Amino acid sequence: MSTVLKPGLPRFRPMTEADLEQVVRIERAAYPYPWSRGNFHDCLQAGYSCWVAEIDGELMGYAILLAAAGEGHVLNCCIAPTWQGRGYGRMLMDLVIETARGHGAESLYLEVRPSNTAALRLYQRLGFEGIALRRNYYPADDGREDALVMRLDL
Ligand SMILES: CC(C)(COP(=O)(O)OP(=O)(O)OC[C@H]1O[C@@H](n2cnc3c(N)ncnc32)[C@H](O)[C@@H]1OP(=O)(O)O)[C@@H](O)C(=O)NCCC(=O)NCCS
Repeated sequence: MSTVLKPGLPRFRPMTEADLEQVVRIERAAYPYPWSRGNFHDCLQAGYSCWVAEIDGELMGYAILLAAAGEGHVLNCCIAPTWQGRGYGRMLMDLVIETARGHGAESLYLEVRPSNTAALRLYQRLGFEGIALRRNYYPADDGREDALVMRLDL
């Protein structure tokens, strides 16, 4: 008889400097134009709400939220490629939304590449709506790509 081991639910905890090596490794695997280690360091230093998700001790996701003056901004949300498509991005965003509410935010904003169908679908499922386009916002292989600005009323 074989035993099928199912991974447990993710555990969420605040990100620390000690996590950055793993975070940057995932960032480089997940994004065509990844943030640098310095970008994450700056977010920690600035006191942004920085979270990691772990399963059985393995860091497999993270999110960064800036919440101030009644608004939240999702600056990064990522699940490691090998863990994608299993509902963990949704759980991570649920945490981000609750954290933003806890900071008194009334609206939550983010930017996404229109070509990022997985992220778009996730945000739409959570109730985010597109409110504007930032032209030529992101670098892209064939030049620049627009950013779709999305908002969720909290
Ligand atoms: C976007 C991301 C966080 C989603 O995380 P995930 O764990 O794969 O997503 P989930 O399994 O929780 O799925 C959430 C929803 O997105 C949909 N989805 C996930 N992957 C998808 C894909 N490749 N294509 C279309 N829809 C997809 C799911 O079907 C689900 O919607 P449903 O409830 O209607 O079925 C993840 O793909 C990722 O980290 N991508 C790289 C980094 C990135 O682009 N971050 C967003 C920057 S704006």
